[in-house]
Amino acid sequence: MTWILALALGYLFGSTPFGLLLTRLTGAGDLRAIGSGNIGATNVLRTGRKGLAAATLLLDLVKGLVAVLIARAVWPGSEAFAAAGAVLGHCFPVWLGFRGGKGVATLAGVCFGLALPVGLTYAAVWLAVLTISRISSLGGMSAAVAAPIAALLFGYENFVPALAALAALVLWMHRANIGRLRAGTEPRIGRSKA
Ligand code: G3P
Repeated sequence: MTWILALALGYLFGSTPFGLLLTRLTGAGDLRAIGSGNIGATNVLRTGRKGLAAATLLLDLVKGLVAVLIARAVWPGSEAFAAAGAVLGHCFPVWLGFRGGKGVATLAGVCFGLALPVGLTYAAVWLAVLTISRISSLGGMSAAVAAPIAALLFGYENFVPALAALAALVLWMHRANIGRLRAGTEPRIGRSKA
């Protein structure tokens, strides 16, 4: 039964749409009508508010991390369910009619909570691909795919199924980005929008 509680806890944390809340509260505009329309940090950056984008990235990450850490403390062994709940909550928040973000920052927090080596690998791949390509979606998708591989390599086999499923979810959430990448029209960070 504890797995349901962990899933629900993760969902509750994950479904808090920080990007939307921060941009609305600060009058930075309606994220849904800007750039890709996504509620994540990359799209907040397109409002021109770098600090707000950094805050969104941090809070979206921390909500995943905290959900996993609480689950581990309260219901040991249920972390993977809290992890799944957090990313599902971010991607499909009930408060926004199940239209949320793409899961990259929240999955980062989840990975750090599950296992530090997995989190560090996620961050390293994310930053490396982002730095080289300047394409946010490519960095995020690469990191998501790296997560279950890192879990396997570092001996966290019990987290591999959840992380593999979440990587597949992140790829699915980026299907429009993948289409733009294939067409060569995906925007790069620092240039104008989607
Ligand atoms: O985390 C979202 C990012 O990977 C892509 O965002 O706004 O370019 O679709 P966006």
